[in-house]
Amino acid sequence: MHTVAVLSLKGGVGKTTVALGLASAALRRGVRTLVIDLDPQCNATSTLEPDDTDTSIYDVLQEPTLEKVRAAIATSTWGEGVDVLAGSEDAELLNHPDPGESRLGRLREALRVLAEDEEVPYQLVLLDCPPSLGQLTRSALVAADRALLVTEPTMFAVAGVQRAFEAVQSEREHNADLQPLGVVVNRVRPRSHEHQFRIEELRDIFGPLVMPVALPDRLAVQQAQGACMPIHEWGTPGAREVALAFNLLLARILRISRSRRRPVHSDFDDEEIQEAVEA
Ligand SMILES: Nc1ncnc2c1ncn2[C@@H]1O[C@H](COP(=O)(O)OP(=O)(O)OP(=O)(O)O)[C@@H](O)[C@H]1O
Ligand SMILES: [Mg+2]
Repeated sequence: MHTVAVLSLKGGVGKTTVALGLASAALRRGVRTLVIDLDPQCNATSTLEPDDTDTSIYDVLQEPTLEKVRAAIATSTWGEGVDVLAGSEDAELLNHPDPGESRLGRLREALRVLAEDEEVPYQLVLLDCPPSLGQLTRSALVAADRALLVTEPTMFAVAGVQRAFEAVQSEREHNADLQPLGVVVNRVRPRSHEHQFRIEELRDIFGPLVMPVALPDRLAVQQAQGACMPIHEWGTPGAREVALAFNLLLARILRISRSRRRPVHSDFDDEEIQEAVEA
């Protein structure tokens, strides 16, 4: 089970879009996936439209028992391969700024009991975080084995991703397994000099941790989300471009997570590209 926290301490840069895009690529590739919606805005839950559950992340974070976890999970309308652990506006009540170890460990405990119970375990768990560093995001960092940082190629977003990286490093005190998976740059317009400048700046700061595939700024992303559809099913040229980028990202995530000690290379190898194009 690869558990990936998708985070950024800046709002609106594309965390939910990345979590949903990866879920869409996973669905296409037959990778059984659970999306956990930690954001009280519940954007991921709204787009994946699971059947109503009486229980949500709010209950799971208070009482991480198998009974609560099971009750909070439902199949998404995208298909059998993608399930959702439903978000809740009430989760904001649990977003303590200084939560203490016991509260921080509850999501990790929930995932532990779930992994033990599942006959066919999830291969991928995606944690969609809110844009703040309170109990919710920190719980994700304690539960995850990888952290995927999302940014836009703008000045304030770059500053936000630096703070997120520092948060990942400091949470390793509670979770020694946690590794930064990389920085994914979203909403890139290749002809923008400002964007190219910010991407170079990110490469200077993060080196090979900057993912070799960037996500282009395409209207199809908003259209597919508005229609609650996976980007892989939207079918326009823009959607296909974004879907291919997500295939590459997913291939990279699965590969890096499989071999923990493998150094991160910034380029894709032929096998990764072949897998992504065929997916
Ligand atoms: N690559 C893209 N191309 C076009 N629009 C995009 C792209 N990525 C994100 N958007 C749009 O930008 C808006 C913000 O994206 P998203 O909700 O994923 O950000 P977020 O980081 O999860 O926000 P929040 O901090 O509020 O949770 C959404 O309307 C989304 O459709
Ligand atoms: Mg979001």
